[in-house]
Amino acid sequence: MRLETERLVLRPWREGDEESLVRHANNRKVWINLRDHFPHPYTLSDARAWIGRCIAAPRPPTSLAVEYAGEAIGGVGLLPMADVARFTAEVGYWFGEAWWGRGFATEALRRLTGYAFESFQYERLEAWVFATNPASARVLEKAGYEREAILRRSAFKDGRFLDCHLYVRLRQR
Ligand SMILES: CC(C)(COP(=O)(O)OP(=O)(O)OC[C@H]1O[C@@H](n2cnc3c(N)ncnc32)[C@H](O)[C@@H]1OP(=O)(O)O)[C@@H](O)C(=O)NCCC(=O)NCCS
Repeated sequence: MRLETERLVLRPWREGDEESLVRHANNRKVWINLRDHFPHPYTLSDARAWIGRCIAAPRPPTSLAVEYAGEAIGGVGLLPMADVARFTAEVGYWFGEAWWGRGFATEALRRLTGYAFESFQYERLEAWVFATNPASARVLEKAGYEREAILRRSAFKDGRFLDCHLYVRLRQR
């Protein structure tokens, strides 16, 4: 599968992406805004393990590499929730710092959102953004998400409690 935007291709992670994954993911400025299950430092062995998990995961894929000019420069994903929240997925995304500020995250998130509603039965997509990450909040707003709540002290990251802003986009009826 392959999702195209004006400048980007969203496609499954594959063998051969390891080096670019490490190059872009091994950055504290990326890690500081993500969940702790995103490793730091990000090693070649982390990259191999991640790509192996993605290759083994059920289809259609929920974690995708974002490719620009033939190189994986970041990732986007859907994390399905469970039980009574099973029609909700969390969206996530990150890009190598060298590529920030060009509108790539917005372009990729818009396409991921379309894919999520077209290919899965989600009613609701949500994102938890640390209050210290206004760039990501802006990306979500540009992609049509609305801030629904402030979850006070809901994250503990890098030794301190942070408020999270909960952004949501519902399936259009
Ligand atoms: C957050 C992130 C995905 C943004 O990627 P990007 O490709 O630079 O995003 P875009 O260029 O599409 O949009 C960024 C927007 O934020 C704005 N922005 C950047 N820094 C900002 C700041 N400090 N305060 C307010 N707005 C800011 C930009 O001006 C732009 O908005 P505009 O188009 O209205 O000018 C990228 O910085 C990243 O990967 N960060 C680390 C991982 C992460 O935070 N993931 C999201 C977790 S919720």
